[in-house]
Amino acid sequence: MSAQRPVIGVFDSGFGGLTVLREMVRLVPNAEYLYFGDTARLPYGTKSAETVARYALGACHFLESQGAEHLVIACNTATALAMDAITSYAHVPAIGVIDPGAAAAAALSKTRHVAVIGTEATIASHAYHRALEKLKLQAYEKACPLLVPLVEEGWIDHPVTQQVAEIYLQDAFLHKDQRSDVLLLGCTHYPLIRPLLRKVVPSDVAIVDSAESTAYALAKKLGVDPPPASASASGATHASGARAVTAPSAPDPRPGTPGFRFFVTDSVQKFRRLGAGFLGHPVDNVEHVDLGG
Ligand code: DGL
Repeated sequence: MSAQRPVIGVFDSGFGGLTVLREMVRLVPNAEYLYFGDTARLPYGTKSAETVARYALGACHFLESQGAEHLVIACNTATALAMDAITSYAHVPAIGVIDPGAAAAAALSKTRHVAVIGTEATIASHAYHRALEKLKLQAYEKACPLLVPLVEEGWIDHPVTQQVAEIYLQDAFLHKDQRSDVLLLGCTHYPLIRPLLRKVVPSDVAIVDSAESTAYALAKKLGVDPPPASASASGATHASGARAVTAPSAPDPRPGTPGFRFFVTDSVQKFRRLGAGFLGHPVDNVEHVDLGG
């Protein structure tokens, strides 16, 4: 990395992208982070491709106007529906969450069958299916629309959330013909219920978190050496796994202290309050912006 700190613009529909930011800060602490959460217009997961692309391009334009030199599209839905539009429109390099997540799943799967969960729009786009197919994997895709509101309600360790997850995942993992040996978390909110999902899926199924895989992709792109390889290096955990999967943790004490500016389109207070749970530490320096439209 050059002596100059990179300025990284992170875009999400709201709070969930903070799980991606949390992982990026852990791996690339010596950076300025500009985070845009489109809280007034979430959820994106139920919207059309045209609408999501329009919102995403506006947000990326805003982040570039604030000095972003790299864009990370932390929102799975925006990556799934608008990555091509963003890449051709942006003046700076952009990475999304889908290719890194798919690559991490491919590195782990022995059966070459992967179950992917995400919002309605992400799953309907089949973006993960295509990314996995390119890597010669077969995808079992399942929309889990109730999980986002349950996480936002703070029910990350609640029996109702567990029951909902069991219902969503039973076809993928309980059917005798199922062959998926990886569960790919294709939504920003799911890392927060990873411990709960760990209880739901069979113990020999690895869980891959595209938030963590994306942080590794960013570190690689910036030439930052990630921490030594571990079971979590590609964002995976097994039941026996070496990775602690409890609460989100504060950044590791690696050199450099990250700088943060947060921009939201709805209540600053609400973002501070809810955001801390997603980021794993207090969220300060939040400004309200109105992009119109
Ligand atoms: N950020 C979205 C995603 O990762 C989830 C929340 C929403 O639907 O806006 O797909």
